[in-house]
Amino acid sequence: MKRVAILISGGGSNMVALAESMVGDHPARPVLVLSNVPGAGGLARAQAMGIPTAVVDHRPFGRDRAAFEAALQAELDRAAPDILCLAGFMRVLTEGFVTAWAGRMLNIHPSLLPKYRGLDTHARAIAAGDTQAGCSVHEVTAELDGGPILGQARVPILPGDTAGTLAARVLPMEHLLYPAVLRRFAEGDKSPVLLP
Ligand code: GAR
Repeated sequence: MKRVAILISGGGSNMVALAESMVGDHPARPVLVLSNVPGAGGLARAQAMGIPTAVVDHRPFGRDRAAFEAALQAELDRAAPDILCLAGFMRVLTEGFVTAWAGRMLNIHPSLLPKYRGLDTHARAIAAGDTQAGCSVHEVTAELDGGPILGQARVPILPGDTAGTLAARVLPMEHLLYPAVLRRFAEGDKSPVLLP
């Protein structure tokens, strides 16, 4: 059985989708939900599901990313995960941390990568006049939002869409895509999942 740690910064809806999927004959189980934000809504949701939680607040570390990551790693060492899932984790990780987890760390990003790495993805897709948007799950490498793509889901961009209405259309697809990719990844299969 593979052990999965999920890193969050916010509400944790992707974390819930991942955790709820890891039941029955699934080859993985959640062992830790780790947040850099003390009050993150996802922490209470994880606790309600009986998943151990931990917080490493990034703020006391200031610009010392290496020290922040050493504290993250210490929490991870306690939980001994095989796979890390970034799920709305809004800190950029250094090359040192990423390299240590190479091939074992996934992220979900709310765009059809390689388009719109970084922030404000939905607003940028609308502003560009795109007719489709979506989300991607990728392996994390040192290049921001740049690692190998393990799955994508598409939705239409409709006339009158705002970043908010588009995000509300993409998020349910994230909740389908990420668990599908994690299951395949935990089985050792890196062939991409394409939805719908
Ligand atoms: C999700 O839309 C995820 O794709 C995005 O943050 C949201 C987290 O929601 N991630 C990023 O923008 C990463 N750069 P959640 O906390 O409800 O899962």
